[in-house]
Amino acid sequence: MDTTAWDVGQAKALIEREVRAARAFLGDDGADQSALLPILQALQHHFGFVPPEAVAVVADALNLSKAEVKGVVSFYKDLRTSPPGEHVVALCRAEACQARGAEAVAAHLERTHGLAPGGTSHGVTLTNTYCLGNCALGPAALIDDTKLVGRLDLHAADALVASLTPGGKS
Ligand code: FES
Repeated sequence: MDTTAWDVGQAKALIEREVRAARAFLGDDGADQSALLPILQALQHHFGFVPPEAVAVVADALNLSKAEVKGVVSFYKDLRTSPPGEHVVALCRAEACQARGAEAVAAHLERTHGLAPGGTSHGVTLTNTYCLGNCALGPAALIDDTKLVGRLDLHAADALVASLTPGGKS
């Protein structure tokens, strides 16, 4: 997955955009701080992860302490603090996919491929997500924010990892 080098100017522009959106929705009272999570998500979307340098910039912009920002970053497991692998597999762990076997797929990915949520192995990063709108074809996953896959049983999960791993078929 592509990442963009840290740039404080780009980060500040993203922060301003999310603060403006929060103020438009909530008015001025408390809107800035409610923009914290959208800001962190926007930074991750842009840079591929939330760089450590971002914590102070975000804290300063929202008049929060760095500890408060770090606390939110560490609380939300979908936020990464280090660059992702070449590919990111977002496995749906929401109810419909759980009912169709997502937990068994997650356990298999960890046991067989060393892929735990938030972790990276052989260039593949695994994350959790919650409903991709593909419930009828679950378990579902989104690959590199672009490719939706469904009916992800253990065999399909093995094939998917092989296709994303260097030396595997793609
Ligand atoms: S619950 Fe997994 S796609 Fe909807």
